[in-house]
Amino acid sequence: MVRLDDPDWVRGQYAVVEHLATRISAWRHLEERLTPQHVALRSLEGAVDVLEVGCGTATLASRAQVQGGRVVATDLSLTMASQAHTAGIPSLAADVGHLPFADECFDAAVAAWML
Ligand SMILES: C[S@@+](CC[C@H](N)C(=O)[O-])C[C@H]1O[C@@H](n2cnc3c(N)ncnc32)[C@H](O)[C@@H]1O
Repeated sequence: MVRLDDPDWVRGQYAVVEHLATRISAWRHLEERLTPQHVALRSLEGAVDVLEVGCGTATLASRAQVQGGRVVATDLSLTMASQAHTAGIPSLAADVGHLPFADECFDAAVAAWML
């Protein structure tokens, strides 16, 4: 049996960008309606310094940035953290359980569809 939070398994799953694209395609058709992503973004309104953990290709982080946030993104997968960097989001590879940030340096943190 595979544990969905096994770090090696997660890294393997997200070492390939197309794997995330396949997952996203499962809910993409909901985009025009109120989706969990809209709700997450709404909850970030007014926050200046924002952390997204498990950022994937940084679609949510990018939208939060457009919304006015100074967003930092992290992901367990180096491939995904690199994608976020390419998308213009300061990013680093890190396990959500071991984040290299001091307490209280973000106004808000979001984890969206991490597993
Ligand atoms: C389904 S994707 C969601 C990506 C993004 N949040 C979005 O909304 O499009 C899940 C992401 O969470 C990351 N992830 C899973 N477990 C993690 C962990 N323990 N620490 C950091 N990132 C993790 C994966 O590498 C993957 O990029």
